[in-house]
Amino acid sequence: EQYFVNSGNLKGKKALVSAGPTYEPIDPVRFIGNHSSGKMGYAIAEELAARGAKVTLVSGPVAFDKPLPGVNIVKVMTAEEMYESCINEDDYDIAVMAAAVADYTPSSVSETKIKKTEGNLELSLKKTKDILKTLGASKKESQVLVGFALETDNEQENAAKKLKDKNADMLILNSLNDEGAGFGYDTNKVTFFFKNGDKKDVALKSKKLLAKDIIDAITELL
Ligand code: CTP
Ligand code: CA
Repeated sequence: EQYFVNSGNLKGKKALVSAGPTYEPIDPVRFIGNHSSGKMGYAIAEELAARGAKVTLVSGPVAFDKPLPGVNIVKVMTAEEMYESCINEDDYDIAVMAAAVADYTPSSVSETKIKKTEGNLELSLKKTKDILKTLGASKKESQVLVGFALETDNEQENAAKKLKDKNADMLILNSLNDEGAGFGYDTNKVTFFFKNGDKKDVALKSKKLLAKDIIDAITELL
């Protein structure tokens, strides 16, 4: 079943979606990554395109190669590259930031393979730029900006705080504590948080069907 009945047409609308993890290089053979599969972001991009939107999908490295008709896929590796590609598309009507962007990246990348030595290795990491927060800071009245939040504790409070801090219109809380939700699964169980304080629990369902609910909710905000 769907929570929103209004599955309006998005012809003429411009959408930006981020998806997947980012890889932050340490040296020529190693990187810092995360478990994001990219499935949720790709499902959202596919659904936006199916409803007629002109979609740009900025994707980190994913394990599948899914051709999405009508979607302009921009492939990136690092948080910095994802930032540049997303900021370049800031004239969107709808933006959904579904990527698991690295919060930190090595302060410097070794040009040669780091050799194993006695004792521990310490890596120095610097903070990356927050893409969602940057888009939120320059958001126009007509633009709808959606973020995700991945939490393991204090989920409700953290999600409500992220929605506000990043000036998003909607935030989708992903809980790693729910069965069938989170990394790798084809299903997801989330809660929608809206700017006006409304909240909506969405039942466990496939990422494909959840994408429809998400776009229905966005359509109501347009
Ligand atoms: N995000 C982003 N750019 C970053 C980090 C996060 O655009 N550099 C976006 C994500 O795509 C997601 C939202 O911000 O839509 C929240 O990401 P999350 O990792 O849950 O929150 P953070 O603000 O990074 O805080 P923390 O990881 O400390 O919980
Ligand atoms: Ca983060």
